[in-house]
Amino acid sequence: MSSVPEAVSRTDSNPRAAPSSVPGAAVASPPAPRILQRMLALDDFEPQAARILPRPIFGYASGGSETNASLRANREAFGDWSFVPRVMVDVSVRSQRRTLFGQTYDAPFGFAPMGGTSLGGFDGDRVLARVAAASNIPMILSGASFTRLEDVKAVGRTAWFQGYIPGEEGAIRKLVERVAAAGYDTLVVTADVPVAANRENNVRNGYSAPLRPTLRLAWQGITHPRWLFGTALRTLYVHGMPHAENMGSTRVPLVSRVAVRERAQRDRFSWQHLALIRSLWSGKLVVKGLLSAEDARIAAGHGVDGVIVSNHGGRQLDGAVAPLRVLPEIAAAAGSMTVMMDSGVRRGTDVLKALALGAQFVFVGRPFLFANAVAGEAGVRHAVKLLREEIDRDLALVGLSSVDGLTPELLRARPR
Ligand code: GLV
Repeated sequence: MSSVPEAVSRTDSNPRAAPSSVPGAAVASPPAPRILQRMLALDDFEPQAARILPRPIFGYASGGSETNASLRANREAFGDWSFVPRVMVDVSVRSQRRTLFGQTYDAPFGFAPMGGTSLGGFDGDRVLARVAAASNIPMILSGASFTRLEDVKAVGRTAWFQGYIPGEEGAIRKLVERVAAAGYDTLVVTADVPVAANRENNVRNGYSAPLRPTLRLAWQGITHPRWLFGTALRTLYVHGMPHAENMGSTRVPLVSRVAVRERAQRDRFSWQHLALIRSLWSGKLVVKGLLSAEDARIAAGHGVDGVIVSNHGGRQLDGAVAPLRVLPEIAAAAGSMTVMMDSGVRRGTDVLKALALGAQFVFVGRPFLFANAVAGEAGVRHAVKLLREEIDRDLALVGLSSVDGLTPELLRARPR
């Protein structure tokens, strides 16, 4: 039996997308890596990636901060809601399309920004950009990425850039000019990083930015040969030493004994700087990483176009509330702003719950980085397909033919 619900072929799957295994599809797909037959859900990629990636890199990507309380809470929050499905509704034609800032996407999810994407798998930022373009979903390029934002823009229709922005006018002007000149149309300002988080897992696993060339690091490379040859040495051979390309004025190499990554002035960044960005940036402006309805109101007052309700995937303040819990109050305070969320979305049912509670769109991070580590571009395409299929199936099972029908009435909170 095919793992693809039959109805997918009658729904709005993207004709430009890479050929899928829909029975009777006219175009033959190149044989997918066999490992993908065992990847049945987004969570299946993580344990597989743990075997492939050196500990510092896997730990950096998978971990949260301090006790990982927010990382866990993000998942638990979805479990607090159950569906009250409707039955005997004609759901034979289904749509998961969503329009965001005037652009219609084929799914209500996109790729969250992740600085380590090209550490997880060769050319990760470009891979995600290609898959996003082919799947007609948005990708947010991380300001902490190791690929120049201009080079990622050249790959596909990716037009969202996320910045780590210091509270310093000159740096802000330079970054905004550069992002606009590269052709991005949506600027995402991350708001929850005034200081670096306390990521003990990084210390325990030997990750730092930049990485220090130690025997321990070399041993991690040698004992992970697939990553060493397929990602690290291939990257060095094709592109040379990766640098943090999109952060501040200095290009910091990925591995260095002495270099220091610039984080200065981030703790000065305030709404005044956001007002400056708004005056300089004529594209869509999104604030990512707010969790308070009052902050959403302030953002609306500054002419912000959208907010991503997020606790940074549990990677900043340990104990920060799970975004799903505050989504309804932020949606109520958002006025005409577009409300999006990330942090902990792993299943089609999670996407449906977030949309029912007030998100217009969600972003998903780590599973796509791991999918690239496991099987490169085919892995990321497979992961997108899995989530799309789950959303399609779940829509039918809750009795809806479109994500537009998702409302809070479809959900019941778990009794406390
Ligand atoms: C970067 O955004 C990180 O969370 O490490």
